[in-house]
Amino acid sequence: MSSMESLADLMQDELKDIYDAEKQLTKALPKLAKKATNEQLREAIEQHLQETEGHVERLEQIFERLGMPAKGKKCEGMKHLLEEGNDMIGEAEEDATRDAVMIAGAQKVEHYEIASYGTLRTWANLLGHTEVASLLEESLEEEKQADQKLTSIAESFVNAQAAEEAEEEEEAPARGRRTGARGMRQSAADRGRVANRGRR
Ligand SMILES: [Fe+2]
Ligand SMILES: [Fe+2]
Repeated sequence: MSSMESLADLMQDELKDIYDAEKQLTKALPKLAKKATNEQLREAIEQHLQETEGHVERLEQIFERLGMPAKGKKCEGMKHLLEEGNDMIGEAEEDATRDAVMIAGAQKVEHYEIASYGTLRTWANLLGHTEVASLLEESLEEEKQADQKLTSIAESFVNAQAAEEAEEEEEAPARGRRTGARGMRQSAADRGRVANRGRR
């Protein structure tokens, strides 16, 4: 087998992998959006869901151009990234902390996609599939933009809020840590009362 033939095989495998990964994401992102507290974060996830559906369609165009059936191959990498993200989200008790964890997980997902699309675009160019390469480039750019948007949301809101929540827990350790999740909810309610008192 020539090296170009094996590169073509590698590209086919990688296309099937990212196709399955994108399909997993079209199922995971709506659930993630529901769990987001920060409005900007929820909108960003919803917008990226639409883009993700576009990535699936773009891959189907690529399969057609390459004369391949549009069929994925289980992407274990994405499966485990999503499982790990879900576990971490499940452990976060405060809203802003959960949002911060969600952003961290989503950025890991974006970086996986960026690596895949970057590699695929390079391989497509090497194999002379320039139109396929430019389709891949379009998805690559959207993944990079999604990643940057998540960074700016994290920087502007969520991390500051999460740090504040952690600080408040530090200041009121007896109350906050009393009974785990229930204690935390209780302390959030207390904070609400204190805040309301301040306003009167
Ligand atoms: Fe994507
Ligand atoms: Fe993405």
